[in-house]
Parts: sequence; structure tokens; C-alpha cells
Amino acid sequence: MATTKDYSQYFVAPDLKAAKKRGKEEVQVLQFEQIPEDMRHVGKNKRYLIQTYGCQMNVHDSETIAGILEQMGYTPTEHEYDADIILLNTCAIRENAEDKVFGTLGRLKQLKLEKPDLILGVCGCMSQEESVVNRLLQSYQYVDLVFGTHNIHRLPYLLQNALYSKEMVVEVWSKEGDVIENMPKVRSDGLRAWVNIMYGCDKFCTYCIVPYTRGKERSRRPEDVLNEIRELARKGYQEVTLLGQNVNAYGKDFKDIDYRFGDLMDDVRKIGIPRVRFTTSHPRDFDDHLIEVLAKRGNLVEHIHLPVQSGSTEVLKLMARKYTREQYLELVRKIKQAIPDVVLTTDIIVGFPGETEEQFEETLSLVKEVEYDSAYTFIYSPREGTPAAKMKDDVPMEVKKERLQRLNEVVNEIARRKNEALRGQVVEVLVEGESKKNPDVLSGRTRTNKLVNFRGPKHLIGRFVHVRITEPQTWTLNGEWVEEPVAQVGV
Ligand code: SAH
Ligand code: SF4
Ligand code: F3S
Repeated sequence: MATTKDYSQYFVAPDLKAAKKRGKEEVQVLQFEQIPEDMRHVGKNKRYLIQTYGCQMNVHDSETIAGILEQMGYTPTEHEYDADIILLNTCAIRENAEDKVFGTLGRLKQLKLEKPDLILGVCGCMSQEESVVNRLLQSYQYVDLVFGTHNIHRLPYLLQNALYSKEMVVEVWSKEGDVIENMPKVRSDGLRAWVNIMYGCDKFCTYCIVPYTRGKERSRRPEDVLNEIRELARKGYQEVTLLGQNVNAYGKDFKDIDYRFGDLMDDVRKIGIPRVRFTTSHPRDFDDHLIEVLAKRGNLVEHIHLPVQSGSTEVLKLMARKYTREQYLELVRKIKQAIPDVVLTTDIIVGFPGETEEQFEETLSLVKEVEYDSAYTFIYSPREGTPAAKMKDDVPMEVKKERLQRLNEVVNEIARRKNEALRGQVVEVLVEGESKKNPDVLSGRTRTNKLVNFRGPKHLIGRFVHVRITEPQTWTLNGEWVEEPVAQVGV
């Protein structure tokens, strides 16, 4: 007999149309409410596992989720079969990202059958999509908990509901949330830390789902960001990466102060943390003041990730990127003039609906002109609810795949040439640990975020060292440790 489940008690479902609306209400900065005493033991003798997909924003959200779970008494495990709660922190950026998650959920069904008390949860960007939540409700009823990107701070309550409810607990707020400060965090690395400076995105590039899954742009207050970085410096962190979907829009939403990303970077520059990175920078809001500040260097590294998406002004227009090829190239020229040894990296989409061979070739020529040190390249993936998904697309998949391959050849050739130029040079490396491939080799990164492998004693881990590059490759640099002290930068 068919039964109708009543989800209404804990059920707030996502709505893409509502997510599109940008409210006029002012963003509130709220403090995370301490977890009530009776919830602090829910996870006693229990283990959690979080699987993270997608961008750095999600990686950092997982650190917050871990922080909340640990405050509830849970301890981490790396093994699915040991876990009492498994959360998939998902990404919706392209179809293959979603396929992976549904694949994992399918596989976890068996585990859930064997361990009915296991709590299986889905969070992150996919849970903000109506179609995904409907699919979960229909075909993945063994999922216990679904919560959205604006609902992370509500996890203690949602989890408690999931533990006592037989129905799927769903809470996804479609409209933008507020800024919640003081959330607990378990950072997975003791050297390098992520720091959110803003949330959401208002750019609405026509191909992109992020403005719907992450809500409207809202900035953290400068003092909250600066205090967090000072605290990380005190704890011995050597590097921070400032995070936002579009960090150059930082501060646009402040009503009471005139304080933008360039101002923030200028203040971060004065904090004694050796390296500061940021991602991601939208070319449109990259102003002269920011260039001026970055040119002061110190702890501000000479690497800028500057997604271009396409080298064709017509395609950029259809993408609603709001800059032309010429404006982008002019920005690159200004940056290179101010910071001659800057390393630029980018994101590129090929096979946007209707992209012609000539338009694609404009992307190739732009890549050659800018000479990126590396690039993330993607085949366009239609996302339900976005304007581009409705555009006519007459470019066959084989052509898109072939364009991706041609683009990658050009990107790799330039990457190899750029790395080759470092042969014989001595670079500053922050040593992260043993190389993944060979425990006898140490690996770390340059200021420009290039991966360097070299042989050296283990006590160098966590320190800055000098390495002479002996064998540059396309993706990595092999070198020799130069035993001389490194003057600490920025401290
Ligand atoms: N906020 C960042 C991008 C975050 S998404 C920015 O604007 O630069 C990371 C990258 O994924 C994008 O830069 C874009 O190249 C790619 N991407 C986004 N949506 C996509 C889609 N529908 N299909 C293929 N690639 C996409
Ligand atoms: Fe997506 Fe564009 Fe926003 Fe980046 S700026 S997250 S590509 S809408
Ligand atoms: Fe993916 Fe969401 Fe990041 S869609 S790329 S995890 S903001």
C-alpha cells in the first residue's frame, strides 16, 4: 500500500525562483548561538565523516560543519563503515559534479541497510536546487537529512530532529541568509587557513548556478575578518587565503562605511602572517586601488587567479560577464605593469551555447597573449534555472571535446614554458609535508602557488626554505634544498 509521508514538520524546500530575488533587507551580522548543554553529548562515542566536493568555499564550510559536530561530541573518522554520520557537502557547478554525488549516495544505500542508525546527510550547493531535493525525496528516501548553504548554523537542531524522526529532515532556505560570526571550526591544516571575507554572488553570469545556491553578496565586517587573521597569525599559521565568489565586490554592501577589497588587503598587509592569497577575483570589479595595494607585495603574494571564461567579446556578452576582451587585456596590462613577475591563472569555458570556431580561436589567442601559468578549463554544462540553459546550442559535443583538447594543449605548452624559465632559479617554498607520491621527498609551494618537490630533512615541514629549481615540469617543479636561512616575509 502506498503511504504518503508527511515531511511538513521539518521541511523547508528550495525554490530557484525565490533564490533569484535579491532582497532589500539589510544583512544582519549574527553571533553563532552556543550549542545547548543537552546537545553537547549527542555525539558521544560516535564518529563523523564529511565528504567534500567543489570549491574552497565548500572545503571551508566543511571545516565549520566539523567544528559544530565536534562541539556535539562527535569525533572524526576516515572510514565510511566506522561512521555514525556521513555528510556529503556537494557541488552543483557542472552536471558531472552532481553525478558523482548521486553515485556515492547509491553506493551508500547498502551501508545504510546494514547500519540503519547511520545518519546520511546531503548539504552544500546541490541541496539548494529544487530538482535535486525532489529527486532525493523520490528515489533516495534513505537519506535522513538535507540542509542548505544558509542553514549550516542550524545543524545541531536539524541533526537532533533527524536522529528522532523517521522522515527525511529537509531545511533549505532559498533566500539569502545573514552573516553568522563565531561559528566553531576544525581547520584541517595547521599551516594554511581559509578565511571567508564575503558570501554569495550577485553577478548572475548566465551559465552559473552559484548566485542561486549561495544567495546574495554579503560581506563580513572588516574587524571580524582582520581579527580572525590576527588570531590565525598568533596560532602560528603561515598562510591565509581570503575567500569569496567575487572578492572584488567586497564591501559594496556596506551602508555605513566606504571600505572595499583594496582597503581590506592594505590592512591585511600589516598583519604578521607571511603569505596572503585570495580567490576568486572577478575582472570587472578589479580597481586601480587594489592593483596599487597588491604592488606593495610584502605578504601579498604575486599570484592572481583572474577567470576570463572566453576570449570573445560576443561570447562574454552572452555570458553576461560585463567586460570585453579588450577591457580584460587592458586590466592584465595594468597588473603586469605594476607587478612584472605576477603569475596569472584563469578559468575558461569552451562550447558555450552557439560558440563558433572563430570565437573559440579568440579564446586561444587570448590565452597566448596573456600567457597564463595555468588554467582550469571546462566544457559548458547546462544548469537548470540559469538563462544559458535556455539558449540555442548547435555545437555538437564532439566539437566541444575537441576544442577543450586544443585549448589544453595550448595551456600546457605555455605552462611548461613558464616553468622552464624557472630552471636554475632559487625560490621561496613553504614546506607543507611529504610528497604524496614519495615519502622521502618534501613538497611545498612558492609564493606564486607552484608545487615544488625536493629532498630534505623532515624538520623543514612547516618552515620557509629556499629551493633551487633543477627539473621544471608542466605541473610541478623539482629542485634542491639550498641550506641558507630565509628572511621571513611580512613579519
Ligand atoms: N566565482 C568564480 C567562479 C566560481 S565557479 C568566478 O566568477 O570567477 C568556477 C568556475 O567554474 C568558473 O570560473 C567557470 O569557469 C566554471 N563554471 C561555472 N559554471 C559552469 C557551467 N555551467 N559549465 C561549465 N563550467 C562552469
Ligand atoms: Fe558564477 Fe559569475 Fe558569480 Fe563567478 S561571478 S560565481 S561565475 S555568477
Ligand atoms: Fe560548487 Fe557551490 Fe562552490 S556549486 S563550485 S561548491 S559555490
